[in-house]
Amino acid sequence: MPSDTNASGDIFGGWLMSQVDIAGSIAAHRRVGNRVVTVAVNEFIFIKPVSVGDLVSIYAEVTHIGNTSIQITLNVFSENERGNGNAQKVAEAILTYVSMDDNNKPKVIS
Ligand SMILES: CC(C)(COP(=O)(O)OP(=O)(O)OC[C@H]1O[C@@H](n2cnc3c(N)ncnc32)[C@H](O)[C@@H]1OP(=O)(O)O)[C@@H](O)C(=O)NCCC(=O)NCCS
Repeated sequence: MPSDTNASGDIFGGWLMSQVDIAGSIAAHRRVGNRVVTVAVNEFIFIKPVSVGDLVSIYAEVTHIGNTSIQITLNVFSENERGNGNAQKVAEAILTYVSMDDNNKPKVIS
């Protein structure tokens, strides 16, 4: 949306980062089965700009499971003109989440 743009008119990188964090947390929650929190953005690469009106799709994959942490690799694709079927990769990221118990302490992942 236009309200998500930076001074150059492209989509603000922070908006994309928040969408990626949400997508990663969904993937982590599905695997872990309880609440997770983001502990680290290990890597975030902006490959191409995203424009107003683009259709953005984020694909998340579990790439490592530790004791209480889970690493998610995310690939972000964008189609212009509200989705013309010609998706291009615009970003990639690796985020780490921690599984949390009801007392807000790290919980071992089973
Ligand atoms: C997540 C949190 C509970 C971890 O607490 P902690 O005292 O570091 O806990 P631990 O040392 O037991 O680490 C827990 C796991 O996180 C991992 N971890 C901690 N810091 C890390 C980092 N910088 N990068 C990657 N993994 C990290 C540890 O390796 C451990 O993983 P493992 O059990 O699979 O080996 C704590 O840092 C926290 O509450 N952070 C804020 C989370 C938050 O609010 N996120 C949203 C930000 S807006």
